[in-house]
Amino acid sequence: MAKIQARQVRREFQIKNILGKKEKLTVLEDFDLDVNEGEFLSLLGPSGCGKSTFLNILAGLDEYDQGEILVDEKPLEKRSFNRGIVFQSYALLPWRTVIRNLELGLEIRRVARKERRRIAHRYLELVGLAAFENQYPHQLSGGMRQRVAIARVLAYHPDLLLMDEPFAALDAQTRETLQIELLRIWEVDKKTIIFVTHSIDEAILLSDRVAFMSSRPGRIKEIIPIDLPRPRTEEIRNSLEFARIRKNVWELLQREALQIQSYGAYL
Ligand SMILES: Nc1ncnc2c1ncn2[C@@H]1O[C@H](COP(=O)(O)OP(=O)(O)OP(=O)(O)O)[C@@H](O)[C@H]1O
Ligand SMILES: [Mg+2]
Repeated sequence: MAKIQARQVRREFQIKNILGKKEKLTVLEDFDLDVNEGEFLSLLGPSGCGKSTFLNILAGLDEYDQGEILVDEKPLEKRSFNRGIVFQSYALLPWRTVIRNLELGLEIRRVARKERRRIAHRYLELVGLAAFENQYPHQLSGGMRQRVAIARVLAYHPDLLLMDEPFAALDAQTRETLQIELLRIWEVDKKTIIFVTHSIDEAILLSDRVAFMSSRPGRIKEIIPIDLPRPRTEEIRNSLEFARIRKNVWELLQREALQIQSYGAYL
């Protein structure tokens, strides 16, 4: 079943140009995308093409101007407890300690206090921050804050997980650990994940399919299925098959005549 069906979505923003005049900026245009139930789909595209805009719309944080978006075959609702988002920059509540930030979603879901603490501890351990549970966000580094934000959404266990470059601010080793960890968690209950990244390698490692967007106004240009076996381990990351897919993706991007400069950042 399709979890998400986006049809001919259009999003425009009113902006002021450098002369101070109002102008329309078309960010998404003719945007079509189907995401299957339980699928791990990555979204790649040049900076400013509208990836975060699309995720914000799905999260109910932004509107769209034309087209249609269905979730579970029903029109997208603004409010839903079944969606979780990890933003490009961590969004923690500064007045709550780390552990209480993790418990936030569970409180909304009315999970009992003891159970909340137990789950929160588990996920905090998973991201290697067990020792920091009583610190406040400002006492953590940027990467640590992002790990708390990731742990929080994983603990919340939403039906649809929207992740906007969640690992971009992390050091390489933590990033690789969390990629494998995210897959391990996802493989248990196969919730639908839409994952924005600028890394082709990350997209190939994680995804069932990788969707490429054009530059603004953004639309889906190409979708590539990733036929690597699961679970995707370090061995798979280093396999010849992985390298072959990576090469194909590159060739395809070049054939698509996407500006090589926009994709230079993807490696
Ligand atoms: N609220 C807003 N008002 C006006 N313009 C906006 C707004 N939000 C986004 N934009 C514009 O929409 C375009 C797409 O932004 P968006 O954040 O979706 O890009 P992106 O694909 O996520 O880029 P990146 O890879 O850099 O994160 C940009 O040109 C941005 O300036
Ligand atoms: Mg973005």
